[in-house]
Parts: sequence; C-alpha cells; structure tokens
Amino acid sequence: DQSSVSITVVGASGDLARKKIFPALFALYYEDCLPENFSIFGYARSKMTDAELRNMVSKTLTCRIDKRENCGEKMEQFLKRCFYHSGQYDSKEDFVELDKKLKELEAGRVSNRLFYLSIPPNIFIDAVRCASVSASSANGWTRVIVEKPFGRDSESSAALTRSLKQYLQEDQIFRIDHYLGKELVENLSVLRFSNLIFEPLWSRQYIRNVQFIFSEDFGTEGRGGYFDNYGIIRDIMQNHLLQILALFAMETPVSLDAEDIRNEKVKVLRSMRTLSMDDVVIGQYKSHTKGGITYPAYTDDKTVPKDSLTPTFAGAALFIDNARWDGVPFLMKAGKALHDRRAEIRVQFRHVPGNLYNRNFGTDLDRATNELVIRVQPDEAIYLKINNKVPGLGMRLDRSNLNLLYKARYSKEIPDAYERLLLDAIEGERRLFIRSDELDAAWALFTPLLKELEDKRLIPEYYPYGSRGPVGAHYLAAKHNVKWGDLGVDE
Ligand code: BG6
Repeated sequence: DQSSVSITVVGASGDLARKKIFPALFALYYEDCLPENFSIFGYARSKMTDAELRNMVSKTLTCRIDKRENCGEKMEQFLKRCFYHSGQYDSKEDFVELDKKLKELEAGRVSNRLFYLSIPPNIFIDAVRCASVSASSANGWTRVIVEKPFGRDSESSAALTRSLKQYLQEDQIFRIDHYLGKELVENLSVLRFSNLIFEPLWSRQYIRNVQFIFSEDFGTEGRGGYFDNYGIIRDIMQNHLLQILALFAMETPVSLDAEDIRNEKVKVLRSMRTLSMDDVVIGQYKSHTKGGITYPAYTDDKTVPKDSLTPTFAGAALFIDNARWDGVPFLMKAGKALHDRRAEIRVQFRHVPGNLYNRNFGTDLDRATNELVIRVQPDEAIYLKINNKVPGLGMRLDRSNLNLLYKARYSKEIPDAYERLLLDAIEGERRLFIRSDELDAAWALFTPLLKELEDKRLIPEYYPYGSRGPVGAHYLAAKHNVKWGDLGVDE
C-alpha cells in the first residue's frame, strides 16, 4: 500500500482522549478497520516519552466481551504504533517538529493526516493554524476533527467558523456531534425509510407529539468549569437533541449521500420556529439527602460560582412550520442529576378515531394511543406500545409492547459512537458530521432565548439531586396537551 494515515490527537492527556479517542482507535485496529500504514500521535504540552504515553493509553484499552482472543497481543501491536510529541498549541515550530516525525513514519508514502482537536475552545484556532501551516500533508488529505463547543451563540459560532475557514476548506472540517454516531440514532433513518409501515404515519396526520429525552443520574462533578459557561441547553439540546430531531423529521433525502442528507436536515432546522421564553422551562439541581447520603447541589461544585443561575435542566417545546409537521409539538427535556440515565425518542400517535373499544379504557384515553419508543441508551431498544386483548372469555384490553431489545436480538457488542465517527473521518464520509450551515441554523433557533435567559438573569426552578426534575416540565407539556411518556409504566 502506497498511502499512510496518521492520526494526531491534540490534547492527548485530556479526559476525552483517554476515555474515548484512544479506546475507539484501538477498537478499530482490533476490528481491522484501520489502514495498513497508520500511526497515532499524541500531542500535548506536558513532557512525556513515547513509553509514558503508551503506558497511559494502555490503561484505557479494553477488548469487546465477544472478542477476547489475542487481545493482549493486539494491544501490544497497537501501542507500538502510538507516539508522543510534546509541544505548545500555538507554536508553529513545535508543529514543524511534529511534521518531521510524521514524515519519517510516512517513509515516502502518500501522506494523509487527521488531526483530532480535543482541546478547550480558546486554543482551537491557534492549534488549527499551526497544524495547517506547519503540519499539513503535502500530497494527500489533511482533515481536522473538532468537538463542541462551537461557540456560545450565533455570533461566536460564526466567528469560529470564519477563523477555521481561514486555514481549512469546509470539506476538511469534521464537526463532531457524537450522538450521531450512536447506533440507534443511525438506525432512525433505516427504521423510517426501509419499513413501509412507519413512513406513511410520519406526519401531523397520525403523530400527536414527539419527545426527545436525555437524562443523567450524575451531576457536573469535575466539569463545572466548562459547564457553567454553557449550561444544559447548549450542552445537550442545541446539538445532540436537535440533531436527532432533524433526522427524525427530515424529508426523504435524494440519496444516502452526505450532502443530500445534510441538505434535508438543514431544511428542517430552517423551518423551525425560533424558541421563546414561553416554550421553555429551566431548572438547577439542589442538594438532597437520601439513605444517609448527601448529594451536592450544582453550586457546591468548587469550579462553579456560588450564585450561578446556569440551567442543569431544561424542557422546551419546538415547532416545525412545514406541511408535514404543522402544529405537532416536539418536546425536549434534558437534565443532569436526575433519577436515571437515559436517552430516548418517544413518538405518541393520535387516538384511533371512533375507537370501538373506548369504554375499555374508561376516560383515560391516553392509555389507548400507540407510542413508539426508540431507546438510544442504555439497553438499546425499539418498542411499539399496542393495545391487545387479554386472552380469555371476557373482553378486556391491555397495553403490550412489540419489542426489539438489542441485547436479545444481537449478540455483538454495539460499538462506541466514537469508533464509527473516527472511521468515517478517516474514510472521508461526512454524513454524520455537522456542516456549517446546519450549525448556523441550530444556533439561530436558540440564540435569542439564551440571550434573554442571561440578560434577565432568570432564576431556574430548583430540583433535588436524583429527582425527576422540576414540575415546570409538566406544565410545559400540559400546555401543549402532552404527557411525558417516560413517566408512565412501560414494560
Ligand atoms: C456531552 C456533554 O456532549 O455528552 C456531557 O458535554 C454529557 O455533558 C455527554 O455528559 C453525554 O454523552 P453520552 O454519550 O455519555 O450520553
């Protein structure tokens, strides 16, 4: 093979690199997905030898449960391909030195270079400048993966894009939203577009509302410094949940080509109504004692100002003003320090008109409607709630699930989102990355609201650590005639 690929992880000693990027690269290596001639560079400020980097990386590597054979051996081989280069993020000279090392390993082959920027936003641009000026490939491709935050609002995001584009073409920039790499999010389009029974129902005619729910059962412990400047709306809603919404609601793309899919997603985002304060609730977790254990308040975090009003929970009602979705509420809910960890999509269908069996449900008509649940995590599943006759001589109806539980159906472990995304970036597949016009459209929806929240210093509703979040979320849903689906009994 006459070509080589090098992957430079800028910010190699950071959390993301250790927890996600190196393990994902190893998993790809193990699955034989990396090109024959590849090398991995860790780049960071601290002094470290190759051996020390290898030692650090080795602690984070794991083998899949179903693929343990030769694991240790594979790890050894993988680690031999990992190197370290210490340098400043804004030093061209240091990147020139990196370039020399890369060239040595490339040994005259066509050089393809991927830079993964796993560093704080204030040094993004410096690193991009140095990498592109001093360490770009001379005869192959150079690509840069960037992670959010992509600014804090429309203005700062546009400024970031402008700066990136001083050094890179749009097709060199791979903006990660790791939710797009999750198995069930990828499957969303397969579910819709390759099953006759769903797509015809996918509109205001049959769907009453759609819910996107994200919750974590831990707080911001240790990440308060980053989080306090962003809050849950920017951390989860404007990107992860909105991306899922766009995939959920888009029209059929012309093809599976990245540009065709991204064109449809942008259309959805641009058809959405800008959010206003009336359609949003915010919350912040407070300390709570349970079973003798005291869980901290958000503001107990040492890196968070005592008087912080940053939301750690938010609920929102969004609307897509196009022919397909006119009037259908798309509800979002995202929060930290709640009672469980989950990410799911819930599609609540309308009532069966003139339902013959209404009386079996008394006045609780909600019980009788179908609901499709796509559980992104944990315990991936897709299930459809249907009405069924309880077997026997009487006529009693019951709710049951048609259930696709991934772990029962597939024995193979589901790859981490970062594996798919890294592989796509290496292969130049842009389908799961965010294009700059998508990003602009996403910010346009949230920016006025975020500004208002911050200008008026609106007080969040406080909810106990480990609870189901503020009651405001119920009022918001009720205003749109909706009940949150995650509060009922499911299985
Ligand atoms: C990140 C957020 O993008 O996603 C974090 O910044 C959050 O706050 C994380 O915890 C959740 O990702 P996952 O894959 O663990 O659900």
